[in-house]
Parts: sequence; C-alpha cells; structure tokens
Amino acid sequence: MSEILMIKDCKKINSNTRRITFEWDVEAKPGQFVMVWAPGMEEIPLSLSGVKHEKSVTFKIIGPDTEKLAQLNSGDRIQIRGPYGRGYTYDQNDKKNILLVGGGIGIAPLIPLMKARSADIVLAGRTAEEVEPYIPTAKNFAMKHWESTDDGSLGFHGNAVDLVKEIMKDERYDEVVACGPEIMLYFLHQYLNKVHVEHQMSLERHMKCGCGVCGACMMDDKRVCKDGPVFNNYEIDLMPEFGTSKRGIDGSLIVFRK
Ligand SMILES: Cc1cc2nc3c(=O)[nH]c(=O)nc-3n(C[C@H](O)[C@H](O)[C@H](O)COP(=O)(O)OP(=O)(O)OC[C@H]3O[C@@H](n4cnc5c(N)ncnc54)[C@H](O)[C@@H]3O)c2cc1C
Ligand code: FES
Repeated sequence: MSEILMIKDCKKINSNTRRITFEWDVEAKPGQFVMVWAPGMEEIPLSLSGVKHEKSVTFKIIGPDTEKLAQLNSGDRIQIRGPYGRGYTYDQNDKKNILLVGGGIGIAPLIPLMKARSADIVLAGRTAEEVEPYIPTAKNFAMKHWESTDDGSLGFHGNAVDLVKEIMKDERYDEVVACGPEIMLYFLHQYLNKVHVEHQMSLERHMKCGCGVCGACMMDDKRVCKDGPVFNNYEIDLMPEFGTSKRGIDGSLIVFRK
C-alpha cells in the first residue's frame, strides 16, 4: 500500500537522529519496514519504530535523503509504501526468556517488540548520546536493561557482543533478537551459534522496490526485502554473503571479508 500521509511530529532524538510520527491505519508487525519518500529525495527504506495506529520511523542523518527527511516538520506530507518484509517471529504468551540486542540506530526498530512481549534488552552505541534517548523506554518496558558504549561514556565500556558475553555468564536465554550494524550481527551470530542460542537478526541490503520484484537486495539466494529483513540463525547459516560482502548500487558483489 502506498499513501501520502501528514507528519504528526518530527522529533530530535539526538544531534543526528530524528523520529517522524504519522497516523496510518494499516496493520504492521515489529521488524517490518516502509519505503519513505518526500519531494527532493530518493525513496529509502526505514524500519518502523512504532507499529500501532500511530506509527513512526527513527533515522540517523547520514546522507542526502535522510538530511532531506530531517528538514520536514509536523504538517508536511510524506509518501509511505509498505509495510514490507517479514517481521520478528514471536508469541506474546510464550514463556521464552528473550534478550533483545540493539546497536546504534538498530535500537529503534526493537522498541515495538520490547513493548509487545516481555524481554531483556542491551542498548549499545558508540557514545552515550546514541544510547541515552532509549533508556526511559527500556526502564518502562524491558524486564532488565544494560547499556554499552564503545568510548565508555555510559555503561559497559566495549561493544554489544562483549557485553552479551558478560551478561550470558549469569543469565540464560532461549532466544536473542538483534538489530544493528552488520559487523555487530556477524560476530553476535558466531558467538550465539557457539553457545547454541537461537536467534533472529534484521539484515539490510540496498533496496529499490522493497517488495521482492527488482532483485536489488539479494543476499545469496534470498531477497532481504521480502524473504527478510528478519532471518533466523538457520537461514543465516546458509547465507555466506552475510558479514562478508555487500552489493554496490549497480548490483555488483563487493567482498570485504574472506
Ligand atoms: C530494511 C531496511 C531498514 C532500514 N531501517 C533504517 C532505520 O530504521 N533507520 C535508519 O536510520 N536507517 C535505516 N536503514 C538504512 C537507510 O535506508 C539508509 O540510512 C538511508 O537510505 C540513507 O540514505 P541517505 O541518502 O541519507 O544516505 P546515502 O549517502 O545515500 O547512503 C548512505 C548509506 O545508506 C545506505 N543506503 C542508501 N540508500 C539505501 C537504500 N535504498 N537501501 C538500503 N540502504 C541504503 C547505504 O549503505 C549507503 O552507503 C534501513 C535500511 C534497510 C535496507
Ligand atoms: S528491493 Fe527489490 S527485490 Fe528487494
């Protein structure tokens, strides 16, 4: 579905992160994403950080399109296509012990899941500024929460994977659900496989159609937009391109780790 919607709110989360809120009467699941467009920008994929009637996208300003989006105000209009992809698989009523792991801007798409079912959460970022905005929500909705920063300005001094290893010395989880930079997901996947903990991860590739038609987002034989973006550990095991290569805008394979 594609609709032109009015922005209800455009909130500054920190110096380079914004959250755009809009009312949209469609059903959406935690982990799904939308294609967002406004005049003067290319259409880009953004995960939903709110999935009820009032929905939101939370994004980091890193280039021309996110800069353009960040200039919008409440009352402006945006085009939203979707929601697309397979979200997180979960059962609100099961008794599974779940740990959510969010890295950087990857924290925001986990918020709807944190609100939907009981879970612990790791909030990881480079600096305190990346993590702090999410702590009040974690306090409200998560069972337990931990923070880590690469520069040691808040919480555990180190990366998300090292913090997860520390936490798992004391805690036992049935499943881990993660969203964040591919390098974080790659090492987390390796560790969780080693300790035999099931997991789901939200992956990213360059997207054009967002709905399984164009093939721009292929990772091995999977279309990340339609078969994912959330994949479980068994699927990721069969995706050798994960964590080792990416595709250029022209579709060419760029290998960065053998
Ligand atoms: C399924 C999915 C969900 C995403 N959710 C979020 C989110 O919730 N918050 C957020 O901040 N970012 C998210 N992203 C990344 C976001 O789409 C890019 O940050 C954005 O497109 C950058 O555009 P730009 O013009 O500002 O920067 P550019 O300078 O054009 O691009 C910077 C980098 O962003 C990535 N990118 C650019 N265009 C695309 C595209 N069409 N598809 C995928 N990646 C692209 C590339 O890695 C590129 O190197 C998501 C990406 C995917 C695939
Ligand atoms: S973006 Fe077109 S198939 Fe995935």
